[in-house]
Amino acid sequence: MVDASRMMLQRGRVFYRQKHLLAIEGLEPPAISQLLELAESYVLLNRSGKTQRDLLRGRTLINLFYEDSTRTRTSFELAGKRLGADVINMSVSTSSVNKGETLIDTATTLNAMHCDLLVVRHDQSGAPNLLARIVDAAVINAGDGTHEHPTQALLDALTIKRHKGCIAGLTVAICGDIAHSRVARSNIHLLTTMGCQVRVVGPPTLIPAEVANLGVTVFHDMAAGLDGADIVMMLRLQRERMSRGQVPSGREYFRFYGLDWEKLGYAKPDALVMHPGPMNRAVEIDSAVADDPLRSLIREQVEMGVAVRMAVLDTLSRGHGRNEP
Ligand code: ASP
Ligand code: CP
Repeated sequence: MVDASRMMLQRGRVFYRQKHLLAIEGLEPPAISQLLELAESYVLLNRSGKTQRDLLRGRTLINLFYEDSTRTRTSFELAGKRLGADVINMSVSTSSVNKGETLIDTATTLNAMHCDLLVVRHDQSGAPNLLARIVDAAVINAGDGTHEHPTQALLDALTIKRHKGCIAGLTVAICGDIAHSRVARSNIHLLTTMGCQVRVVGPPTLIPAEVANLGVTVFHDMAAGLDGADIVMMLRLQRERMSRGQVPSGREYFRFYGLDWEKLGYAKPDALVMHPGPMNRAVEIDSAVADDPLRSLIREQVEMGVAVRMAVLDTLSRGHGRNEP
């Protein structure tokens, strides 16, 4: 058992008490902090090359991804295996979904096989919430439409905390396609809850008006939006979710909103650069910035992803919130 996990149980204080992880919205700071603290200890475990295969021995984790993924699916698989779970990656493209089976019937079928943890990515916002109501397994949202991507926000927070020493009080500029980004929404909820000043920066067509109700400041100009920022978080243009007229040309977009050295110069001198991936180089970010080991945290975000997902699987598998939503 890793240290934080043991300490948490010894103290008998568990702040994350939900059966599922469907969203960051609604989580209180102690629950977020506890997940991050546990993830921190999994970073150390992973770096030591050890595993903890007794924790989820005999448990089954199913990855059910209706949308493409490299990082999230792989890191849930690694996380599950490092904790000893039997991990099944269901390939939706070769499944009976192609014969017309619905999401609910697919989930009910997997549930009948006594799956303990169901990790779901779907292009419809709310799909994981729907499944959580009908399966016995703990459901983890791995990204639903434009709604939320909670484990991404947790891994981003862990990355920020490790580099800046804290989260509260920082100014974070989230830049680009806010309208279609579940990463932006989960990060806005987490960072504002933990005491950050959050800005969103992008063209008016890619920033929905309602976002201002989430406690962020809206900018349409990179110079003003990045001025004094501690963290610059870039987002991909999610063309797959755009209607025709909304898609800007890559070159034009880069000129105004792509992060290069000149635009990064508007932020604080020690500002750090993040991107959830996958990147579209020369569209939202220049390679020179993305690959600079002194300023870019992009690779470390991926490493933190495994630790955060281990912390989430650990926490949910203990079933503290079996009777709670
Ligand atoms: N990978 C992230 C997501 O699935 C961000 C992106 O695709 O741009 O939401
Ligand atoms: N950041 C992220 O969710 O990446 P994938 O889409 O590759 O999983």
